[in-house]
Amino acid sequence: MKAVCIHEHGRSDKLRYEETDDPKLNSSREVVVQLRAAALNRIDILNREGVTGMEVSLPHILGADGAGVVVDVGDRVTNVKKGDAVCLYPPSGCGRCEFCQTDRDYMCVHLRVIGERIKGTYAEYIKVPAENCFPIPTDYSFEEAAAFPLVFITVWRMLVTNAELKPGEHVLILGIGGGVASAALQLAKEMKAHVIVTSSSDAKLEMAKHHGADHGINYTKSDFVKEVRVLTKKRGVDVVVDCVGGESWAKSLAALAKGGRLVTCGATAGAFPQTNIRRIFWNHLSIFGSTLGSRQEFQQLLSFCSASGIRPIIDQVFPLKGAAAAQQRLEEGKQFGKIVLQVAN
Ligand SMILES: NC(=O)c1ccc[n+]([C@@H]2O[C@H](COP(=O)([O-])OP(=O)(O)OC[C@H]3O[C@@H](n4cnc5c(N)ncnc54)[C@H](OP(=O)(O)O)[C@@H]3O)[C@@H](O)[C@H]2O)c1
Ligand SMILES: [Zn+2]
Repeated sequence: MKAVCIHEHGRSDKLRYEETDDPKLNSSREVVVQLRAAALNRIDILNREGVTGMEVSLPHILGADGAGVVVDVGDRVTNVKKGDAVCLYPPSGCGRCEFCQTDRDYMCVHLRVIGERIKGTYAEYIKVPAENCFPIPTDYSFEEAAAFPLVFITVWRMLVTNAELKPGEHVLILGIGGGVASAALQLAKEMKAHVIVTSSSDAKLEMAKHHGADHGINYTKSDFVKEVRVLTKKRGVDVVVDCVGGESWAKSLAALAKGGRLVTCGATAGAFPQTNIRRIFWNHLSIFGSTLGSRQEFQQLLSFCSASGIRPIIDQVFPLKGAAAAQQRLEEGKQFGKIVLQVAN
């Protein structure tokens, strides 16, 4: 098959579109999926650079998100059959620990996300545990089905499970150009929240308004805490979605109303910010950290997507062999929404 492989870690020029071995089933609970689309995530860049501290055998195929058609199934697979159109639930655990036994693979110490310690989706075919295959939401294209799993399951857990977002609440979402942030905007609006977003780009703020954002703040031009206080008549917001970290962290806490909740899943701008602990206890703030989500949450998300008609925002579609250019676009922060790779079969 054709795939985009890395033979060593480094910059995007290490991505090689080349012929490699087809995946073969070696467990009765696995399936092979002929991929029709894959989507990019920030973690692909970190895995390409080799900075996650995770041992990966090379050559390796990146990509956590994908959708396609099942073409081979192990003897004990019951949830899917050949010919089914599926999207992929990204995490997989050891199957034995206390977390895996209670549908919390995302907390397994042996957590393996597709494209990290399992060969990923920048390929024509992928082998995955059958339990990672789910039917694609109603009327989704393969590109849309590939674009939503990782960011939407993460955001579902952040906003629905952890923050318990309610209609009418005020939400602040940082760095709206990102995949997680744009998914958070869509979900929060679908849940009837009032949404304020930040971005380094006025053009992205305009696009966010087009997708339902109520207010946009350019964080390179003004102090978003002050702006939030003005917009909320000094009260602050109920929920902040901060996967940026760094200097934004203290500001995110300062933008919260009393009893506010901060949800985090990333630290793009730095993982060691200063925190004013007094602000946390004095204002009764809650901080929820999370990574991905459970299969049950993924199923809830699929039902929600089908019922609401919500679709991931697609920034741009590249051919599979254009993976390096696609990753450069993500690294340069030019995107609004998800960057997708189309796999021609
Ligand atoms: N734990 C999990 O389960 C999980 C899942 C998914 C992602 N993540 C993490 O979450 C983070 C975001 O992921 P993603 O895929 O959405 O990444 P992404 O698409 O690469 O998001 C990058 C965006 O972050 C914004 N940004 C960067 N620096 C900023 C700053 N100093 N202040 C405000 N915004 C800033 C920019 O928004 P503008 O262009 O609008 O300025 C940029 O476009 C990453 O750190 C990723 O590793 C974690
Ligand atoms: Zn486990």
